[in-house]
Amino acid sequence: MAVVTGGASGIGQATVRIMSRLGASVVIADVDEAGSEALASELTAGGGQVIACRADILVEDDIKGMIETAVERFGGLDILHNNAGIPRTIAPDCEVIDLPLEWWRKTIDGHLTSAMLGCKYAIPHMAARGGGAIVNTSSSSARYATVDLPSYSVAKAGLHQLTREVAATYGRDNIRCNAVVPGAVMTPRGRATLPPDIFRLFATNTALPRLAMAEDIANVVVFLASDMAGMITGQAIEVDGMMMHKLPYWLPKMQASRGEKFEASTFQYTDMPDA
Ligand SMILES: NC(=O)c1ccc[n+]([C@@H]2O[C@H](COP(=O)([O-])OP(=O)(O)OC[C@H]3O[C@@H](n4cnc5c(N)ncnc54)[C@H](O)[C@@H]3O)[C@@H](O)[C@H]2O)c1
Repeated sequence: MAVVTGGASGIGQATVRIMSRLGASVVIADVDEAGSEALASELTAGGGQVIACRADILVEDDIKGMIETAVERFGGLDILHNNAGIPRTIAPDCEVIDLPLEWWRKTIDGHLTSAMLGCKYAIPHMAARGGGAIVNTSSSSARYATVDLPSYSVAKAGLHQLTREVAATYGRDNIRCNAVVPGAVMTPRGRATLPPDIFRLFATNTALPRLAMAEDIANVVVFLASDMAGMITGQAIEVDGMMMHKLPYWLPKMQASRGEKFEASTFQYTDMPDA
């Protein structure tokens, strides 16, 4: 029995598909009702047990409601994937000296507070069943200085600490809590957020010869949620093919803000004097 927030698209959708294929009953919790219903119908027609539940992760009652839906419809909750993040159209971001307080607050709410509330309502049900697993979707932005994404990167970094707090506090209830840390992923959000030259930059500076697909992240989410990861808790696992393993994330953005031309296709980490 699982709840996946943001399950109608991207990483969440890939997670729902894999969990359903492996026999889990899944609640798709998303603001996109049409997308959730379509996915639930498709997977149910194929023999899965998947339902759609409209839930806005900015609304505490909705988060409580999605957990209660899983418990009422499936008889309990084993897995929570705190995956949804609000889009930049709702909460833009920019460098600190220009940052409106409202953007900061909304981004923290939509990437960190929402996950805390998911844990708050899920944990008592998991504890009552003898345990469970929570997986939070973070971002490699949590590990770098991003220059123009301070709200997002701080929210995701906070998610790592929330992961450790929950893991340490509820481990004796047999509840594990981990995070996946994607780099750039070719999802609708990824495409809307990252300009092509930044995607090229990431591709050029990834150890593996490609960038991640949503399924690459979802596979690790499902692993962390499964008994196969029974001794892993409190961890933030990078699933990015070693993206940006040498080049500072902020460098091209800094160059762009200074009006300097940046050629992602030609710039290699070996051009760095200290590489
Ligand atoms: N795509 C990337 O490059 C990338 C990289 C690192 C981290 N992430 C993180 O992965 C997670 C999923 O991103 P994605 O790329 O799969 O995005 P996506 O846009 O493909 O899917 C996001 C889903 O969340 C839903 N959603 C948006 N606002 C919501 C709200 N208020 N309440 C409930 N649902 C809401 C959307 O309807 C959509 O179905 C996010 O937390 C994001 O920060 C993405």
